[in-house]
This record gives sequence, C-alpha cells and structure tokens, in this order.
Amino acid sequence: MEKEFWENRYESQQTGWDLGQPSPPLMELMKTIHQKDAKILIPGCGSAHEAKALMNMGFNQVWLIDISEHAVEQIRKKLPEFPQKHLICEDFFHWKEGDFDIILEQTFFCAIPPVMRENYAKTMHQKLKPGGILQGVLFNREFEGGPPFGGHEAEYKKIFETYFHFILWESCPCSIPPRANSELWFQLKRKD
Ligand SMILES: C[S@@+](CC[C@H](N)C(=O)[O-])C[C@H]1O[C@@H](n2cnc3c(N)ncnc32)[C@H](O)[C@@H]1O
Repeated sequence: MEKEFWENRYESQQTGWDLGQPSPPLMELMKTIHQKDAKILIPGCGSAHEAKALMNMGFNQVWLIDISEHAVEQIRKKLPEFPQKHLICEDFFHWKEGDFDIILEQTFFCAIPPVMRENYAKTMHQKLKPGGILQGVLFNREFEGGPPFGGHEAEYKKIFETYFHFILWESCPCSIPPRANSELWFQLKRKD
C-alpha cells in the first residue's frame, strides 16, 4: 500500500489494528530471548507499544521503522527516551540497515499486498544475521478485501521455507480475544 494510505489511516484515526497494549504473543516470544543486547527490529511498528515493554525487559538495541510520519511522530512524543537514531520513518523495503538478531512480526505481513510476500520473506532474510530469528504472529484466516490481507498456514509455509528453518509454527495460544483461533505464532531461523 502507498504511504498516503497509511498516513490517512492515522490522521483519520482508523487504526483498528492497534491493540493499545504490547502484543501478548510478541511478549511471550521475547521471554525466550535472553541476550539483552540482541539487535531487534519491529517493522511497520505503528504505535510500537512493544518498544517500551522491551526496554523495560532490558533489551537495549530495539529499532522501529514505519512508513507513516504520523505514526513515527507519535512515538517520538510518547517515548522521548527512545534513541532517535533507532526510530526510522522509511519504506522498510528500501531501507538499507541490517544485521538484526531478531525481527518481530505483528500485522505488518498482512498490511502489505500479497504479491509482495515473497519479497517480504527475502528482505527479512537479508536483514537478519546468519542464524537470526523472525518471530511473531500471522493471521490464519481470510478477510474480505484488505488490508488486512489474510491467508493460511500452508501458503505461508511455501513462502518462508526457502529462507528459514521452522522452530515454532502453530496456532497461537495467547492471542487477544478478538483474534483467538485465527492466529498462527511462529519462530523462524534464518537459513545461511
Ligand atoms: C496494520 S498496521 C500495524 C501496526 C503495528 N504493527 C500494530 O500491530 O499495531 C501496519 C503498519 O505498517 C506500516 N507500513 C505499511 N507499509 C510499510 C512499509 N512499506 N514500510 C514500513 N512501514 C509500513 C503502516 O504505516 C502501519 O503502521
């Protein structure tokens, strides 16, 4: 989707995806990561409720990127203590930074047009260190129109298996109630 689309959504406050709290599945997955200086990226971070929670957990290398100036400006105001050079307003697919240990996915994959999914998997692979982890949640259901653009486990698996080993790939047990039984949580390890 174009940048203008997302700016309009923020300006008109049509942000139904925003949980208003750190994502429970992402927080559960992050409890499995013990390296506090791991370089972590949240692409399409939106309001980035997870950023503060991760800082409180002791993670000190969190990076946020979103294409929307509105979203990034809100984070800047809400989290003045967050390092400015780790808060990026750019198109994720054109941004050059890499070497991440962990990339966190929540409603970014479903926000991009499905024709870009192959590029998503390839770009995630490029931005991770060898052995790096892509983890988070994906919708395991269809939607009318989009975004969000839905899909199912089997088609996602085909996209990711070229680039990643599957560590965790199952129905998410800790989704927020409106998303119960419609999310898959996953941990994928970058293939060399
Ligand atoms: C559905 S929202 C999800 C926001 C956040 N992940 C959440 O769960 O609350 C999708 C986000 O991705 C951002 N986005 C869409 N395309 C992008 C791109 N190419 N590069 C960076 N951010 C993008 C949008 O501005 C929006 O904030």
